[in-house]
Amino acid sequence: MLPCCAVRTCHVLVLVLCLSAAEDFDWTKNDRGSFYYGTFPAGFSWGAGSSAYQTEGAWDQDGKGLSIWDVFSHRKGKILQNDTGDSSCQGYYKIKEDISLMKELKLDHYRFSISWPRIMPTGIKSDHVNEKGIKYYDELIDNLLENKITPIATLYHWDLPQVLQEKYGGWQNISMVNYFNEFANLCFERFGNRVKYWITLNNPWSVAVEGYETGEHAPGLKLRGTGAYRAAHHMIKAHAKVWHTYDTKWRGKQKGLVGISLSGDWGEPVDISNQKDIEAAERYVQFYIGWFATPIFHGDYPQVMKDFIGRKSAQQGLGTSRLPTFSSQEKSYVKGTCDFLGIGHFTTRYITQKNYQSGHGSSSYFTDRDLAELVDPRWPDPGSEWLYSVPWGFRRLLNFVKAQYRNPMIYVTENGVSEKIMCTELCDDWRIQYYKDYTNEMLKAIKDGVNVRGYTAWSLLDKFEWDEGYSERFGLYYVDFRNKNKPRYPKASVQYYKRIISSNGFPNQREVENWKRKATETCSSSNQLLAAEEQRSTAANILRLIHDPLTSHMEMVTEVVVPTVCTLCILLSAVFLMFLLRRHN
Ligand code: NOJ
Repeated sequence: MLPCCAVRTCHVLVLVLCLSAAEDFDWTKNDRGSFYYGTFPAGFSWGAGSSAYQTEGAWDQDGKGLSIWDVFSHRKGKILQNDTGDSSCQGYYKIKEDISLMKELKLDHYRFSISWPRIMPTGIKSDHVNEKGIKYYDELIDNLLENKITPIATLYHWDLPQVLQEKYGGWQNISMVNYFNEFANLCFERFGNRVKYWITLNNPWSVAVEGYETGEHAPGLKLRGTGAYRAAHHMIKAHAKVWHTYDTKWRGKQKGLVGISLSGDWGEPVDISNQKDIEAAERYVQFYIGWFATPIFHGDYPQVMKDFIGRKSAQQGLGTSRLPTFSSQEKSYVKGTCDFLGIGHFTTRYITQKNYQSGHGSSSYFTDRDLAELVDPRWPDPGSEWLYSVPWGFRRLLNFVKAQYRNPMIYVTENGVSEKIMCTELCDDWRIQYYKDYTNEMLKAIKDGVNVRGYTAWSLLDKFEWDEGYSERFGLYYVDFRNKNKPRYPKASVQYYKRIISSNGFPNQREVENWKRKATETCSSSNQLLAAEEQRSTAANILRLIHDPLTSHMEMVTEVVVPTVCTLCILLSAVFLMFLLRRHN
């Protein structure tokens, strides 16, 4: 093992002191802590996921156009350590290798996204269609099918063609509806004979809020109080249009399904006996998943969003609400445009009521909600600072979806946990625990009657984690980003997830306990192999440093030196090697 260690950021937002007041809803009485042994319905689909910009690399190869993420990540200071997705996992060149990893896991499905600018470099069909890009997805889909893995294709996982951003302002502009529809139509035409599960948009909440409100994500706009609502409005219309295109032009022949993937945290009232907290928690979820799901299932925004944003806009002296409105024609066009609902879910918050005064310039999506988010400091948070492991929240969210949208067919399109560890660690027991507990809560939700048909672990590989660069690793497989070949290594969670899949659930206590033991046994030897490999490459880099101080210094800074922890190991090795060299000379 390398003498490296884990560095974690411990972020606790607020200490929650009134937990004793919180009690379970009816359908979860008895079980926050208990484990349910049993299996999933026959035919339940197990998978893992990825997205184009996060894994493909090859950002400027074979005729691909620029996306907003290519441009955003190249701007200094936007991404942690100025990382980019330029080469990422080199997934573009590793179709066969990655499918063998999926085979190892015995996945039923693989969720990936199609990069719009890879197949339409400017985003506009009449400009140019890039056949090389199409060929890549053809190969990926064919290889998946040859290996009996069902492809689930997302049409938009955040990589808008840059030209559309520059010319029209991206999702701020209604013209995106038609451009996106043309792109989707081309995908149906070229891949729809083989792809039967389509996801129009991935996590539009994030696109709207982080792309157009806070500016943490591409395109990096900070249009507080209006940008997110407008972007969301256009995305909802774009989704609906694509669903109608499939429904009228392709469904008859292709017999597939079109859904959307919405991400949302669960919001639990801090004080379950306080009506204000109960309402605030409901608002939290309505402003999250409800913002998109309510128009798609019921034809309009949640009443609570219309009320709150409308009232606050009026208080600001605005003539109309900052939340756009749907005409009655649009309402019926948007309503019912979902064959299945994709749910991405990672974490939970406690919610309490908090009033924000609306004044000029101070309004935002966040203040419109009139609430505060809290966390329990006892919740495990192994990775991303926002990601606390709260499995019971998953069951509650799934039941909320069942109740609000008349029990739609659900595919869990993202669920998983990251780690913030600077050095190699394949023995990810916290991820095992997370997957075990979250999938168990999903099983309980199915027993509650929620119509969940499949589950997608997020993610297959470590990858580019947006503004966090490569610092947060979500993968079942570890990727060595310092090595140009981007080799993959299985973490212990691969062994564990594989067992859940092959047993289609959790057969009995004895067996399930054995899984963890076995998974951790195998990982420690792989860990050692990888550590030895890393030691070799570190030594080679240090030798280069000694022979060519200037260029090697650059590499040390960008490639070798992992901030903070590993510095110590490297310095010690350097001293030792110099000592040896001196002796040899
Ligand atoms: C949701 C996004 O869709 C995905 O790309 C990202 O990796 C996860 N959140 C984790 O942050």
